[in-house]
Amino acid sequence: MQLLFLLNKKMNSNKKLEPVKKNGCLSGEVFVPPDKSIAQRAAILSSIAEGESLIKNFPNSGDPQTTLRVIQQLGVKIEDKSWTQEGNLNLVIKGNGTHGLTEPTDVLNCGNSGTCLRFMLGVLASNPNIKYTVMSGDQSLRKRPMKRVVAPLKELGANILGRNDNRLAPLTVVGKELNGGFIENKIASAQLKSALLLAGLNAKNSLTIEEPAISRNHTEIMLASYGANIQRISDLSVQVLPSSLMGCEVVIPGDISCAAFIITAALLVPNSRVKIRNVGLNPTRTGFLEILQRMGGKLIIKQKNADSTKEIIGDIEASFSEMKGIEIAGSIIPNIIDELPILSLAAAQATGTTIIKGASELRVKESDRLKAMFDLLSKLGVRVIEEEDGLIIEGRGGKPFEPNGDIFYANHDHRIAMTSRIGSLISTKGIELDGSEWADVSFPGFYDTIENLIH
Ligand code: S3P
Repeated sequence: MQLLFLLNKKMNSNKKLEPVKKNGCLSGEVFVPPDKSIAQRAAILSSIAEGESLIKNFPNSGDPQTTLRVIQQLGVKIEDKSWTQEGNLNLVIKGNGTHGLTEPTDVLNCGNSGTCLRFMLGVLASNPNIKYTVMSGDQSLRKRPMKRVVAPLKELGANILGRNDNRLAPLTVVGKELNGGFIENKIASAQLKSALLLAGLNAKNSLTIEEPAISRNHTEIMLASYGANIQRISDLSVQVLPSSLMGCEVVIPGDISCAAFIITAALLVPNSRVKIRNVGLNPTRTGFLEILQRMGGKLIIKQKNADSTKEIIGDIEASFSEMKGIEIAGSIIPNIIDELPILSLAAAQATGTTIIKGASELRVKESDRLKAMFDLLSKLGVRVIEEEDGLIIEGRGGKPFEPNGDIFYANHDHRIAMTSRIGSLISTKGIELDGSEWADVSFPGFYDTIENLIH
């Protein structure tokens, strides 16, 4: 599986991204890769559950594959069962409870994945069986802030040491039994909340976590289905009691964050209409659909189930729309954090100005995404101002982008690579993207999927 990912990486690399030809459009129906957030949670919860879990539709993308490799390094056995029609995997993960994890013989390399590193910090710091682990990742991950997770875990008694006064990976973890209590997070981050919830499973007493705004709730939903004793106290706080997990069956829905690139492309390329099937519609992830609708985007959203204790799935159809600029700010920001790069591109095609505020978290993603979007939009001939916590974008009112001939850099960032591709579809000429292979982190086959939609 990993080999396939590396091969793809070599084959894609630098790419010339061509515009859609005159009178061309995007049309058709697609499935997007399974959700990387949900898949990584399924891998991690299965690894510490008692007994076998069957994970259906596990993605072949970089981050989820990294997480599988990390849990294997901790002694967990995984069996590939079969492939789905779309080329994803059905897996059996053989958990043996938290105490089944064994000390790894090498550094745990979490690659590009913040989810993997931060979640596993919670799992390992609270596991007295694992006396010594070193966790690290690629160049991008080693620059990302870890103190937000390390500090609250230390408040619960964890023994973690990291580079630069515990701010950065590599991090050393000496597992031990932690205390419960109450933690008030300063940042609305699902990775931080989840690391604490996972640590709470093994703590001496209950742990309550409060966040400043609602972040994605996949961990809470999945912990409940693995049998954890978890309850929502209010919209912003959740409590977990010491619990053991039981293996179960999980079906991973399509990744709404991958769908965002295709939906936006269909809204921006004249005459387009595209349908995306079986995609996750968890309301803590769908804020960008509301934003696109507020901008004038024509979307038809069909839910196929409606039980909020489960992951909601459905189909989304998007067709070309005249878009208008709006203000994007406030408590919706954590919900749309991964879609802000592609929403900025939509804003750049809209009529009027779009102001994005309160999004300084974008500076600490796989790359500094405010700077990356400022650079990208500037190279596309868009008038844009970079603020400390956002962007002010003057929309071109549907006028094609005019690339200035510079090379675009993906900056180790899948979402920046994919946003560049969508921008190139509506440009006066092609653009050269350095690092196109980074799209594989969440969306292997992304460029071919777009190519196949072009008519
Ligand atoms: C994720 C949470 C978000 C998101 C990331 C995946 C998760 O990060 O940006 O792509 O799987 O929980 P933060 O928790 O840092 O906001």
